[in-house]
Amino acid sequence: MTVARTGVPPRGDARTDGMVDDNGLVKPAWATECWSESDQTELVCRNVLDITHDVKSFVFEAEGGQVFRFVPGQFVTLQFEVDGQQISRCYTISSPPTRPHTLTITVKRVVGGPVSNWLHDHVLPGTRVSALAPLGAFTLSGAPAAKYLFLSAGSGITPVMSMTRTLFDLGSDADILFVHSARTPADIIFRRELEAMPAVMPNIRVVHICEGDYPSERWAGLRGRISTAVLQSLAPDLHERVTFTCGPAPYMSEVRRILEESGYDMRNYYEESFSFETLPTSGQLPQASRDADETPAEPVLEADADSSSVSPVEAVTTYTVEFVKSGRTVACRTDESVLDAALAAGLRPPSSCSQGMCGTCKTTMLSGEVDMQHNGGIRPREVAQNKILICCSRPLSDLRIDG
Ligand code: FES
Repeated sequence: MTVARTGVPPRGDARTDGMVDDNGLVKPAWATECWSESDQTELVCRNVLDITHDVKSFVFEAEGGQVFRFVPGQFVTLQFEVDGQQISRCYTISSPPTRPHTLTITVKRVVGGPVSNWLHDHVLPGTRVSALAPLGAFTLSGAPAAKYLFLSAGSGITPVMSMTRTLFDLGSDADILFVHSARTPADIIFRRELEAMPAVMPNIRVVHICEGDYPSERWAGLRGRISTAVLQSLAPDLHERVTFTCGPAPYMSEVRRILEESGYDMRNYYEESFSFETLPTSGQLPQASRDADETPAEPVLEADADSSSVSPVEAVTTYTVEFVKSGRTVACRTDESVLDAALAAGLRPPSSCSQGMCGTCKTTMLSGEVDMQHNGGIRPREVAQNKILICCSRPLSDLRIDG
């Protein structure tokens, strides 16, 4: 008699890598953590999920089977090669840290967007990408509350989805009002999952607002855009809620206007503000933005004298920056970033957001002194180790950089 061996996938099967051990058991959540030894790690795509007609979720597992630790609302910087070019992009983690064996990003395909199309067309189960450790301060952890108001629009849903999934998994009794705006019902990301949550946890209330119908579905819910009247009718207790907002810049500015006009205490307001209004002055278009919809970028103008943040009466000094690994030395003025000077000299150091957020341009300063004005893309312990973000560092002396 042959006894069939069930329940244990054969060794070498893709499903036995990473989160499932050799005995077919899910690894415990206290397994080794990703990024505990290095800021960069290799991920393997485990699954690709169709979320809407133009949005996919990419589920990754750590190549070494480690678990992921992050705070809901944070993002990771992924690095991959597109058409022979190394690209770095920041993506919000849409999965919750309460499901630590996988890390998911959710990406909308944008017409003409090189990276979103590449992801949709080329990333399949088994695809490997590099990822930098999670960063970002738009998180629940700093603002525990009894009542939340989550406001999102379009792809901006991803950080608040991670927050909502986390609160759901933890069985939180917080009163959560989640108001998401979309163009049509077919564009509502995570629609079914969000609609199912209140059935299990009535303290979660989900409201979708659509601008119009989809050809195959007439929208029967709230129509139009977020407004003072809509918000006040949905949340008469607005002033008791802590608000998290993420979406396109015009949407967030409208939300801010509504809240301010309603007399809301803006100390309880948090927003994700990946803005590219201040772009590199080198003439190079930004390579990346967090979850950006890749709308055609406005040409970035060369900086003129008046656009510098250094006062015209302040003397501008020029220092030298030696990039030790590449063996190049470039001139860098005190009114430009080290990254801009490098790009202008034809170097191509890794960079992404150019705003001191993503950590892609992080390197070690071997000697010298800089004025670094970052936006959370580097940790205090890294600063103590002489690491700098060259996109937001201006020289205060001659520099030697490990790049
Ligand atoms: S390029 Fe993002 S922190 Fe420098």
